[in-house]
Amino acid sequence: MTREVIVAPSILAADFARLGEEIVAIDAAGADWIHCDVMDGHFVPNISFGPHVIKAIRPLTKKVFDVHLMIAPVDPYLEAFAKAGADVITVHAEAGPHLDRSLQAIRALGRKAGVSLCPATAESVIEYVLDRLDLVLVMTVNPGFGGQSFLASQLAKIARIKTMIRNRPIRLEVDGGVTRDNAAAVAAAGADTLVAGSAVFRGKGAAEYAANIAAIRAAADASLLPKPQDRSAQRMRVSDGGPVR
Ligand code: DX5
Ligand code: ZN
Repeated sequence: MTREVIVAPSILAADFARLGEEIVAIDAAGADWIHCDVMDGHFVPNISFGPHVIKAIRPLTKKVFDVHLMIAPVDPYLEAFAKAGADVITVHAEAGPHLDRSLQAIRALGRKAGVSLCPATAESVIEYVLDRLDLVLVMTVNPGFGGQSFLASQLAKIARIKTMIRNRPIRLEVDGGVTRDNAAAVAAAGADTLVAGSAVFRGKGAAEYAANIAAIRAAADASLLPKPQDRSAQRMRVSDGGPVR
């Protein structure tokens, strides 16, 4: 079954001087989730914001808060992010030695648990934690900064993880350099949740953000439509007595 594509704007690319207005604008613009990039200047070479900022913007929208923790250690801070209003909490597989424990801790807090993999990390690290996961995030840039170029090397990893997930209810998210130009390839590889920062916050205000989100969604959706040859195969099956399910 094809899953509905979710577009999650990263507020790292928002105007922080007007962060509240920016949240309201992307909510109105059709964002499905709000992606919050938390950076500590230690796990990644940049510092962004923490639970206090997330708590402050939480009342401004009902959308899912998708919190991507690029911090190490991570376990001591999970509760603070849960209390701040995170719905999905994603930790990095590379951020500590006890991924299984971190994922258990997130679910014990009543939140959805995600794991993120840096570009150089093989998908095998999630093999034994698949049943503890609600989301896998494949980084398509080296984490730390918005506005970097998409690493096409990660498409094969996305496809392999899609196969590993099989029919588990796990979302497959892609983050870094996603644009309307590569959204089709990302979705065709198997991703169903697309983070985009600079590609969404181009322009100013809800109308332009809406056009940006719609273009990314349309490109991803189009790649999931049956190809012309599949459609004619389906017609043949219909004439043979109905489509094969
Ligand atoms: C990178 C972050 C991404 C990034 C996305 O460390 O995790 O979420 O901000 O921004 P763009 O879409 O500009 O690459
Ligand atoms: Zn992110």
